[in-house]
Amino acid sequence: MANLIVFMFFFCSLLLVVVVSGNAYPFFSKIQMPPGVTGPESAAFDAAGGGPYVSVTDGRVLKWDSTLKVFVEFAYTAPNRLLKYDPVTKQVTVLLRGLAGAGGPAVSFDRSFVLVSEYVGKRIQKFWLTGVKANTAEILINLPGNPNKIKRSETEGEYWVALNVISQQPILFTAPQGLRINGLGMLLETLPLVTGYFNASIAVVQEHNLALYIGSRDTDFVGVLKKVP
Ligand SMILES: *[C@@H]1O[C@H](CO)[C@@H](O)[C@H](O)[C@H]1NC(C)=O
Repeated sequence: MANLIVFMFFFCSLLLVVVVSGNAYPFFSKIQMPPGVTGPESAAFDAAGGGPYVSVTDGRVLKWDSTLKVFVEFAYTAPNRLLKYDPVTKQVTVLLRGLAGAGGPAVSFDRSFVLVSEYVGKRIQKFWLTGVKANTAEILINLPGNPNKIKRSETEGEYWVALNVISQQPILFTAPQGLRINGLGMLLETLPLVTGYFNASIAVVQEHNLALYIGSRDTDFVGVLKKVP
């Protein structure tokens, strides 16, 4: 009995340490990809909340069936294309082709601009779609690493950027981070992805129902970060 109490105390304090020392998203879990499948590079949800839909390195788009708890084949795609899924017609349409290296893009809530990341250029550009600056671009923010995809946050006017901070010294090391920014280029939050992504590159940070879904071509799972309830 005494042993049990000691164990329970130990377990609770461990839990407490994990929760307290963690960041705003202390609960990490994984949605395991099917055997042999790696590289969930995107995590999108449809308008009905279905998903995530993930594009994987072999070119397929898989959809997570939350009832059956399995990934089902949903569509085929090619690299460097942006796809749109219509949950009503169940049609996938190609919006953009030939996206060579450029990540993002994320269209603003009011559709007045689109954000595009430049992986090599370590920055994010803002292309105006409407207004007096329409069809012009400006540098929104310079970053301390290589940005991959940009996704709209659930908070209007905010975005999550998948960032990889690569250092060469003393040895090659990749430290992935989720960055929360706004449409004015202000850095609002830096979330180091320590658990599950040691020396791994991430492709996307997608917020959904207050949780963050992390996609990476270096892993065989979709990482899920949940906030303290
Ligand atoms: C990180 O990965 C690279 C290869 O992708 C490897 O060369 C390097 O040694 C790794 N760094 C650490 C600290 O494990």
